[in-house]
Amino acid sequence: MKNFKELPKIIQGGMGIAVSDWRLARAVSKLGQMGVVSGTAIDTVVARRLQLGDTGGNIRRALSHFPWPDMARRFLDAFYVAGGKSPGKPFKLLPRTTVRMERFVMETMIVANFVEVFLAKEDHDGVVGINYLEKVQLPTLPSLFGAILAGVDVVLMGAGIPLSIPGILDRLSAWQSATLKLHVENNPEHIQFSHAFDPETFREGAIFPLKRPRFLAIVSSDIIAKTMIRKATGTVDGFVVENHTAGGHNAPPRRTPKPKGDTASAYGPKDAPNIDRIKALEKPFWLAGGYASPGKLKSALDSGANGVQIGTVFAYCEESGIMPDIRKAVIDRLLTEGVDILTDFQASPTGYPFKLLDLKGYPATIDAVKCRNRVCDLGYLQQLVFNGEDGIQYRCPGEPVNAFISKGGTEVDTVGKMCLCNGLMATVGLGQVRGSDRELPIITAGEDFSAVMTIAGCLGREYSAKDVIDYMFSRLVPVRPPISRQSETQFDFNPSEAFACDAPLLRAQV
Ligand SMILES: Cc1cc2nc3c(=O)[nH]c(=O)nc-3n(C[C@H](O)[C@H](O)[C@H](O)COP(=O)(O)O)c2cc1C
Repeated sequence: MKNFKELPKIIQGGMGIAVSDWRLARAVSKLGQMGVVSGTAIDTVVARRLQLGDTGGNIRRALSHFPWPDMARRFLDAFYVAGGKSPGKPFKLLPRTTVRMERFVMETMIVANFVEVFLAKEDHDGVVGINYLEKVQLPTLPSLFGAILAGVDVVLMGAGIPLSIPGILDRLSAWQSATLKLHVENNPEHIQFSHAFDPETFREGAIFPLKRPRFLAIVSSDIIAKTMIRKATGTVDGFVVENHTAGGHNAPPRRTPKPKGDTASAYGPKDAPNIDRIKALEKPFWLAGGYASPGKLKSALDSGANGVQIGTVFAYCEESGIMPDIRKAVIDRLLTEGVDILTDFQASPTGYPFKLLDLKGYPATIDAVKCRNRVCDLGYLQQLVFNGEDGIQYRCPGEPVNAFISKGGTEVDTVGKMCLCNGLMATVGLGQVRGSDRELPIITAGEDFSAVMTIAGCLGREYSAKDVIDYMFSRLVPVRPPISRQSETQFDFNPSEAFACDAPLLRAQV
């Protein structure tokens, strides 16, 4: 990528946890578009894949390219289980992230981010990005450094205003120490808390040149885009402008939504980003949220955008990390009855609205997942709270209610919260085993399923990332007329080998 203008028209959106994994991102990048891996919780993801035996040896191959063999070895020794752990055995947990986390925790983040990016970039020279959530702060610095070590081309970040990231990228790619200011609640005197990271203290060999990745901020409005340009600590190379129909987390609506339900009416015209004002900032931008069609791509280009970022249609293609059974159930349901997508204003511990796909009982209802026995053992969405004396404590509105209250939280803040960490892990076949049960999956998607419907319907089979790109550029050759809902919909479905053997069976937690 010599010149930013060469960036592709289509960005395959980063989708956590591990929905846009290295297989999907690599497939998209090899096709000349931008594949994006998700960096969210990637340390746990890679550690769990190793515990499932690293089918195909991909992680071990990536580790053999890690610049510091001793660090790679420590990671492997900690998590690799030859032949895979027994299905009933729980996954080994990583130590929780804290402001003063052990060196090994940070090493794990460096190595895991390296592995995911390395595999996505292997054997081609396409553009690969990595996506992070601004709200998930403690893993950010070691994760960025691991991705930079692997030569990531683009970093994309949303779910917050990532003002400090551009400058951090400048420093880390020059082997300099970096500091991230932390959001700490219950901190009326605005005491500064930060996380510091120095590549020098992790280096186990000579320095070599590192590339500073481009930075794209994911924004929901021209105001945030403008703030990024004015106040960011370094160069913002462009924007993904995402509207509220996109999957995963969304920006909150400008007016206060009703506490539950009636989500469609929560957002109004005021929430639509002003594209002319974004264009006036004279940075490349891509439009996201309901742009997965050739017509929408054209309209985005006509409006001055470089292209579009699309997610949902990739999330349900065969290279996606979502378990094949779940993908099949979603597509079958879509082609028969249609699927319901709900913007849930309570579910996410972050406080941001979160899209939930309701499969009405498969493999469990949303209410059943909400009623799960609360266990908080991953902690990516934990809040940092000043304890009033000398330190920080960690709490999550999705954790057991008593524990949350004992750390100064209020019961009302726990209502309706889901454990996105454990639920999203389950969706990609990495759910924790708890006694005789497993964590239930949480399924997210954008509101616009029209591309899934068109492509799956036209092809009459599971579709690939290539089919998506062909569709976007009007090259898809239908093998049968598009299927309309209510018609006969069974089609051959070949679960990708990758996860068919790795994935533990899903069972409802009772
Ligand atoms: C399953 C799923 C997970 C997602 N996770 C993330 C995420 O972790 N971070 C992020 O910035 N966006 C996330 N998104 C949003 C996508 O990156 C993308 O912007 C969005 O899906 C575009 O809208 P579309 O789904 O209508 O194409 C997710 C979307 C989906 C469907």
